[in-house]
Parts: sequence; structure tokens; C-alpha cells
Amino acid sequence: MSAAGPRPWRQAWHEALYGPSGLYAQHTPHEHFTTATSPGLVDVLAEAVLALMRREGLSTLVDLAAGGGELASAVVELAPDITVRCVEVRPRPADLDPRIDWLPSLGGAALPDALHSLTGALVLAHEWLDNVPCTIAERVGPALQEVCVGADGTESLGGAVDEAEAAWAERWWQQGERIEIGLPRDEAWADLVSRLDDGLAVAVDYGHQREARPETGSLTAYRRGGLVTPVPDGSCDLTAHVAVDSLEHDRLVLQRDLLRELGLVPAPPDHALASTDPGGYLRALAHRSAVAAMTDPSGLGGFWWVLRRVVRSSA
Ligand SMILES: C[S@@+](CC[C@H](N)C(=O)[O-])C[C@H]1O[C@@H](n2cnc3c(N)ncnc32)[C@H](O)[C@@H]1O
Repeated sequence: MSAAGPRPWRQAWHEALYGPSGLYAQHTPHEHFTTATSPGLVDVLAEAVLALMRREGLSTLVDLAAGGGELASAVVELAPDITVRCVEVRPRPADLDPRIDWLPSLGGAALPDALHSLTGALVLAHEWLDNVPCTIAERVGPALQEVCVGADGTESLGGAVDEAEAAWAERWWQQGERIEIGLPRDEAWADLVSRLDDGLAVAVDYGHQREARPETGSLTAYRRGGLVTPVPDGSCDLTAHVAVDSLEHDRLVLQRDLLRELGLVPAPPDHALASTDPGGYLRALAHRSAVAAMTDPSGLGGFWWVLRRVVRSSA
């Protein structure tokens, strides 16, 4: 990274993740944090996505921000009838199943031109929006001033945020000293939804709603599985929770509730199975513990699923 002076967080954050020597030019997401696409959990996520697709009558999965294609791989294994397309900044993994299409993308809010006119598709953005950089601001009296950051992570205050950002904050985030202005995420999400002619767009992320915004913001950094001080030097993942209610949506639902609704929370396996089919019993226990992790209210069960159904009359 260059030894630049203080820059607005949004700009420094973008370069730190997507610049030529940014995090995602060098590393896979899984090198830095564990999520629902990690081994042991990804099959439960794939089952949830497939259950949603079957319920909505959709036959194509577009996995936006696909990371290493972990979810896409689990989906083609479970459902060879589904067409799977990944859209990702990182290169296609060499060992990816040839049935999976891989469309290169730019980073952050920018999407590839080739992604458009999608029909019969579930477009899933799993942990994308938290990595779309947004303006960070602090309240100074009645004004909102942009927070800047130096290459070593030292913060300072810059100028006033622009009018559109101030209007977003006025509408969506009125309390607290530090505000993560979600406008670039709202716009990125609206852009993604606009690429769909018929289907369901789904964003999955940690998030918050107007009545419970984080008082001091949520910008966080992870390096090799541990929490570190946010420094925009390309050495750590930089993420901030998503203001899910400001995203265009038909429904907001917590992962733990959705998995239950989709009938994916199993009853404990019958103990008798332990003697008649020990392997099956152990597999059932492992599956149940993966579902428990995916529905844990203080963990992945607290992820928001933002659902937007699209039916355009010309489709
Ligand atoms: C937090 S990781 C999530 C990866 C995967 N979805 C998961 O849940 O494990 C964010 C991913 O988004 C990708 N990404 C960021 N902006 C993108 C964009 N505009 N288009 C496609 N991928 C993007 C990054 O390269 C990175 O792999």
C-alpha cells in the first residue's frame, strides 16, 4: 500500500480490499475469517438456498461475491439440475467444478456489465455488502463530518459529508456519534436488483435496523481469524455491518427463523440408530450441530436475509 496521508475511510477501505495490492488481490476470504461457507456449514447454507429456490420455482443460482466458490460447489453437488454462476473479483479456482460458470467482477459496489437480464434466478450476495465500503462520519454539533484514516490506521476528521449522504443519515441513522452511511450499499444493492428481470435477489449479512444502530459504528478488521485494529493496508479484511432496513426489500428475516420456516432444523436423531447404523447416527449428529451453529442467535443465526422479489412485466 502507498504511504498516503489521511484519506476518507471509504476510499482507503476500497483500495485496501480491491486495489492492486489489496486484500482480495492476494488472499481468499477464508484465510481471514470463518463464515457460513466454511466446511461443515456450507452444506446447510446450500440446502437453505436450494429450498428457497424450489419454493420460488427458480433454476439458476447467481452467487455474487462467491469467494472460492464454496457455496456454488456445494449446490452443484446437491442439485445437479441447478445452473450455477459465480461472480467474483478473485480468479476462478483451478479445481472448481467445470459445471460452474465464473464471471470476473470488479470490487466493492461495481458489478460487471455482462451481468444483466437474469431470469428464473436467485441472485445471492452472501457477505458482499459488508465489504462494500461506505462513508464513515462523526457528529460534530449539528454537522456530519467525514472520518479520514492514515496508512497506519490513525483517524482524523475531514470535511462535511455530501448532501445525499447527510439526507441518508437524517432518514436512517439519527442516533449515536459515529455513523456508517449506507447509501453506497443501497445503491450497489439496487444495481444488483436491476440486473434481474425475473427472480429473487437475496443479500445475507450481519446487520442492524433503525431502532438499534451500533452507537459507535461497527467497522471491524480480521486478520487470519483474529480481530485486529482496522488499518487500510491490505493486510486485513475490513467489514461493517449493513443497515438492512434501508436496502430495497420485500422482506427481512433472520437466518434462524428462515431455516426453521424452510423446515431445515432437524429433530435429534433416534438413539436406536446408534446401534443399527452408527455411521448414519454420527452423520445426523454432525448435521444437527451444523444447523445449531447456523441458527445460533448470538452467531450466524443472527444474519439477516434481505429478500427482493422481481417480476418485470417485459420478462
Ligand atoms: C466476505 S467475502 C464473502 C465470500 C463468500 N460469499 C462467503 O460468504 O464466504 C467477500 C467477497 O466478495 C468479493 N467481492 C467484493 N466486491 C465484489 C464485486 N463487486 N463483485 C464480485 N465479488 C465481489 C470479494 O472478492 C470477496 O471474495
